[in-house]
Amino acid sequence: EKSKSSIRGAFILFEGCDRAGKSTQAAKLFESLDALGVPVKLWKFPDRTTLIGHMIDKYLKSGHDLDDRAIHLLFSANRWECKSVMKDILLDGTTLIVDRYAYSGVAYSAAKDLELEWCKSPDIGLLTPDIVFFMDMKAEEAAKRGGFGEELYEKKEFQEKVRDVFMLLKERTWETLDARKSVTELYEHIGKMSLKIIQECKGLPLKEDLWK
Ligand code: TMP
Ligand code: MG
Repeated sequence: EKSKSSIRGAFILFEGCDRAGKSTQAAKLFESLDALGVPVKLWKFPDRTTLIGHMIDKYLKSGHDLDDRAIHLLFSANRWECKSVMKDILLDGTTLIVDRYAYSGVAYSAAKDLELEWCKSPDIGLLTPDIVFFMDMKAEEAAKRGGFGEELYEKKEFQEKVRDVFMLLKERTWETLDARKSVTELYEHIGKMSLKIIQECKGLPLKEDLWK
């Protein structure tokens, strides 16, 4: 049964290029909040478990020929298909930690020279994160971390372009973090900020006005 309380969870987002340490910090935050008894869930985009997610996964692994705009819209559709579930979770008072979202959507597609405004438009009206931890690092340094993986976008030159677009997307809710710092040092800040945001969000309405 749905909670009747008006207390909502916080939407905490991690963004950044490949290999920046987003998943590590997201998992760490999840574990600490959970241990503190804070209701929390971890979410990841692309969500490869859905039908659309399977198509995205196949694209990333095979680099198969798909129009740049078509794959962009699939990434966006993958967020839209999760919106109502994410909304229910947040309204139920559970904090959502999300690993990548629409900012990645725009950064990776605009790095292929698609127009920025066109890239943003399909995600307009999605749930708005309460805070974005942008894990920032030069592609050169990311590459040193044992190299990139095998997936389509994991190339140094491309990642550098992606980072440039991310810079254009920074908003008031962004906390830019130096991803070269140690896991522990980064987490100290992320953990503190997250608890603060969770408190602040409790009485506030959930926003569904991304880029409006
Ligand atoms: P992952 O490595 O976090 O699983 O993401 C897979 C790749 O997909 C990664 O290179 C970033 C890219 N991506 C997009 O191009 N558009 C999107 O909307 C998202 C969420 C990820
Ligand atoms: Mg990856």
